[in-house]
Amino acid sequence: MNEKLFEVYKLNDTLILQNRIAMAPITRCFANDDLVPTEDMIKYYSSRGDLGLIITEATLISKEAQGYPNQPGIFTNEQIEAWSKVTKGVHEKGGKIFSQLFHAGRLSHSIYTNRTPLAPSSVAFDERMPRSELMYEEPKALTTNEIKRIINDFVQASKNAIEAGFDGIEFHVANGYLPDQFLHQVTNQRNDEYGGSVENRARFILEAIDKMVEAIGKNRVAIRLSPHAYLHMSYVQGDEDTFVYLLKELEKRELAYIHTGIYDDSEIVPYLNGKVSEFMRDNYRGNLIANGSYSIEQSNNAIDENKFDIIAFGRLAVANPDLVEKIKTNKSLETYDNDSLNILI
Ligand SMILES: Cc1cc2nc3c(=O)[nH]c(=O)nc-3n(C[C@H](O)[C@H](O)[C@H](O)COP(=O)(O)O)c2cc1C
Repeated sequence: MNEKLFEVYKLNDTLILQNRIAMAPITRCFANDDLVPTEDMIKYYSSRGDLGLIITEATLISKEAQGYPNQPGIFTNEQIEAWSKVTKGVHEKGGKIFSQLFHAGRLSHSIYTNRTPLAPSSVAFDERMPRSELMYEEPKALTTNEIKRIINDFVQASKNAIEAGFDGIEFHVANGYLPDQFLHQVTNQRNDEYGGSVENRARFILEAIDKMVEAIGKNRVAIRLSPHAYLHMSYVQGDEDTFVYLLKELEKRELAYIHTGIYDDSEIVPYLNGKVSEFMRDNYRGNLIANGSYSIEQSNNAIDENKFDIIAFGRLAVANPDLVEKIKTNKSLETYDNDSLNILI
């Protein structure tokens, strides 16, 4: 049963996964007030080390990047030190672990950062922050120097991740945060070399990817993308052209993998001519991780049909620390609800 999920999977010459089951990034907001991973987080990730691949919750490349309370960072020595205990625990169980590198952009807030949020253009997200009375603020448009500095922050964070023992990094370009804000027309209204055309909207991502690859190697760099503007974003006709161009450029870079950022991958997106995972498979030859409301059986069958290579489970992996064992022995799974976010380990 579900034997495809249990195949060993060779990502590249550097990384071999013990199975094709990954944990999708899930922000838990349980770092301490210095944004340092806690003992509970070490246990939480280590206890899931029998997964093929764990992708951490969104992890801050700098204080300025923060968008939620108590997110962990990877920019201080104390944070690197704590993460190294997480990676050690996961490796002891044979798992691989990537750090998801994050900058909130216009979805950050001065209550966390003591500064006006930075974004490609000064277009606010006209909504309340989650579980808060506060509205998102109007961001300041980035100068070219600030763009270069943020790219350097991503590069430094990727080096820090390797120092902490991570097997690689996942560049968080999904779900409407800063890098994704460059790709979509509604949030990128620049008319310099970072906006205006398909190539220009993709430039920030490709510059950052090339520098991270230079720093830690292509086998350790991955990316998550949301070509369907489903979260914190709205679609403008023609956005898909940027993603077609970007996927072709990424294919040349032979990254560790690309990963779909979508809540429900059964949704047919008309302007992508199908599901998000189908669009990514059609436009990119290389390792593809799919995600988004999959059941165990659906994902096993889809891998068998070569629709993608690895499945990532988010909510199921939170609710079931023993997910791999349960799938293997065909035990029923705990379902996820909001109380699942109280699960510490
Ligand atoms: C509480 C919660 C936190 C999330 N945090 C992140 C995150 O930090 N980074 C990210 O890329 N996606 C995040 N997501 C999206 C998940 O990675 C995933 O795409 C989504 O839960 C759908 O997959 P699933 O059906 O397997 O749970 C989060 C989702 C939830 C429910």
